[in-house]
Amino acid sequence: MLFRQAKWEEPIVFELSSFSKQTLLIDEEFANEASEALKRIPESLVRSSELKIPNLSEVEVVRHYNRLSQMSYGVDVGPVPLGSCTMKYNPKICEELASDPRVTELHPYQDEEEAQGILEIMYLMQRWLSEITGMDECSLQPPAGAAGEFVGALIIRKYHHDRGLNNKNEMIVPEAAHGSNPASSAMAGFKVVKIPTAPSGETDIEALKSVLSDNTAGLMLTNPNTLGIFESGIVEISDLIHEKSALMYYDGANLNGILGIVRPGDMGFDIVHLNLHKTFAAPHGGGGPGAGAVCVRKELIDYLPVPLVGFDGRSYKLRYDLSRTIGRVSWFYGNIVPIVKSFIYIAALGPALREVAEVSVLNTNYLMSKLRRMRGISLPYGENRWRKHEFVVSFENLLKETGVSAEDVAKALLDRGLHAPTIYFPLIVKEAHMIEVTETETKENIDRLAKAYEEIIELAYRDPQVVKSSPVNTSVKRLDVLVANHPRTLAPTYEHLRRLKSQEV
Ligand SMILES: Cc1ncc(COP(=O)(O)O)c(C=O)c1O
Repeated sequence: MLFRQAKWEEPIVFELSSFSKQTLLIDEEFANEASEALKRIPESLVRSSELKIPNLSEVEVVRHYNRLSQMSYGVDVGPVPLGSCTMKYNPKICEELASDPRVTELHPYQDEEEAQGILEIMYLMQRWLSEITGMDECSLQPPAGAAGEFVGALIIRKYHHDRGLNNKNEMIVPEAAHGSNPASSAMAGFKVVKIPTAPSGETDIEALKSVLSDNTAGLMLTNPNTLGIFESGIVEISDLIHEKSALMYYDGANLNGILGIVRPGDMGFDIVHLNLHKTFAAPHGGGGPGAGAVCVRKELIDYLPVPLVGFDGRSYKLRYDLSRTIGRVSWFYGNIVPIVKSFIYIAALGPALREVAEVSVLNTNYLMSKLRRMRGISLPYGENRWRKHEFVVSFENLLKETGVSAEDVAKALLDRGLHAPTIYFPLIVKEAHMIEVTETETKENIDRLAKAYEEIIELAYRDPQVVKSSPVNTSVKRLDVLVANHPRTLAPTYEHLRRLKSQEV
């Protein structure tokens, strides 16, 4: 399939519009009504300056966003095999039902009696996620996985504090963990203690034993881990942690590979976060919105963020009666739209949720078996182990033999109409590609991805410079990454961009 991405010299929406242009046509009667209504608003509340929002007609807006979408790539265009991100297809039925006005027009201050539908959805989600994780209660408040980790770390801190164990100030985190694990532990006031990965690709249990002490507050672990390998020693690990009166925290970002087959609660974990925007198909990328539900065992329910949703047999109510709560972490209902999308996804699949894990594991290992045989590619750690949701290969040999790096290969994938996988992560694998195709890619698409890798490698040995000049078919060609990421180039807001362009900064 030939790929040539559209390229528009598209200005940003603020530049496209002129603030003085009149696009809203209002009749005289409405104008009179509006000016009458305006008179009744206290003067102190009436805007005195012009409203600086883009001033465009409907057709201009539609064309602008369509042109932008032609220059971008997402899971509705083709596979996005970003390891650790679980970028699966987002079913449109979830989008459709979540855009029901009863969801989108719900006012956060609406009386609970009038919001029974949404409260029931939240209550059922608390129950279903508890069942899926093997925990006793869940809070839907955290807005992302990393926020869930922070909530979990705060719960661990308060739990030990309540027992007078103030010396428990160390959180153990594997060196291959996602960066948010040490970051959220440190933000909650813990000293982060790193442990290495054994050659088998699993947690090095001897290293774990050597750092355990009375200061250990908890262990943050994801299972299957960042290499996609299931920690077969998980029960021994959780026994070791519990013997020190410490708690087990489960980073649920990798749940896709074991969903409905094994539960974190049964592995010995005490606190779990789930990325609803990964495992349960709410769209993500580009910064959200996400939802990072946190689920806990009975003994920790009292520490959860409020409000939870309770049911008294007649109606659903927001519950604030948790005596040890770490407090609020979101406004109102949390990020309700992704929660509703995930609710629909779980309700639609029911017991077939298990097939998500089965097919995603099959897809992972099918692609891994093809890639690991290719010249220049190796499979570090746990050579004889099957992977779960993802796998990590190394292009170290390709780099040595041709000068083509993991980054060059990733860029060359873009030229073939494919999204690149996660690269250079985890740091324990040199020249890494971390690949997760999820259950939603067909065999044909996986074969297409494997074929693209094969072509790129063949080209790397024949004419490495061509690979190193990729991408050439995308709307934006090869970027100088240093310039692209430099604070002088990045413009997070329109105002900043305007100042950059007029050389004010
Ligand atoms: C293993 C792992 N843990 C935690 C996170 C953080 O999740 P979020 O991006 O929802 O904050 C991620 C995100 O990619 C992840 O891959």
